[in-house]
Amino acid sequence: MLSIKNLEVYYGYVCALKGISVEVEEGKITCLLGSNGAGKSTTLQTISGLVKSRSGSIKFREKEISREDSSRIVSLGIVQCPEGRQLFPAMSVQENLMAGAYKVRSKSETLENRSMVYQLFPILAERRRQAAGTLSGGEQQMLAIGRALMASPLLLMLDEPSLGLAPKIVEQIFDLLVRLNSEKNLTILLVEQNANAALKISSTAYILETGSIGLQGPSAELASNDLVRAKYLGA
Ligand SMILES: Nc1ncnc2c1ncn2[C@@H]1O[C@H](COP(=O)(O)OP(=O)(O)O)[C@@H](O)[C@H]1O
Ligand SMILES: [Mg+2]
Repeated sequence: MLSIKNLEVYYGYVCALKGISVEVEEGKITCLLGSNGAGKSTTLQTISGLVKSRSGSIKFREKEISREDSSRIVSLGIVQCPEGRQLFPAMSVQENLMAGAYKVRSKSETLENRSMVYQLFPILAERRRQAAGTLSGGEQQMLAIGRALMASPLLLMLDEPSLGLAPKIVEQIFDLLVRLNSEKNLTILLVEQNANAALKISSTAYILETGSIGLQGPSAELASNDLVRAKYLGA
């Protein structure tokens, strides 16, 4: 569905991605792992059109998108749930959700998406009038995912959704990603430092090491690889 080939990204003179290639298969959960500073967020920002590549290609359903602007990329169905959630803290839960629907043309689709989000996250329905900033960390992450779903994604990209959350809450959020993938047939590209959790729910994994793909393969294989276990799973 998404095919990245030899992607190079620079910030000024600093090379952040040194020609990476990544495939995201339709209907699957793919994860991109790596330590802090490896280039994970840069990869998502470049797919989203927020950072421009120097060379290489990004194809979505066979169409080159690396020179498209970010709002066009959202319209094509690639939606990012950003690192650190980026909610509007003073706005209500419902207002935050509606802000995610700015590219959706029809009112009925927006309302359908909203009832789907409230069904998936009953706690957000209960708190729809509450300011987003007063939610717990886990609820804020649910809201950030809900807001991304308001844009009718075909490919949902998440940047470290587990960050700062207790293990039990991470489990809930990841269970939900599995449900979105299996029940709504949503394709997911998951960026994580939490390799343990991400390898459990994904089918394919890539490990970024300072701008290059170090290892890649079926998630179950990487989870039992000694190098991966020592370096990323603390085993
Ligand atoms: N806006 C920026 N300007 C300059 N350098 C940046 C910028 N954003 C990220 N970098 C650098 O690019 C590298 C990759 O960063 P990033 O993609 O944020 O990594 P990760 O998400 O894996 O932690 C790091 O060395 C980081 O310092
Ligand atoms: Mg990051």
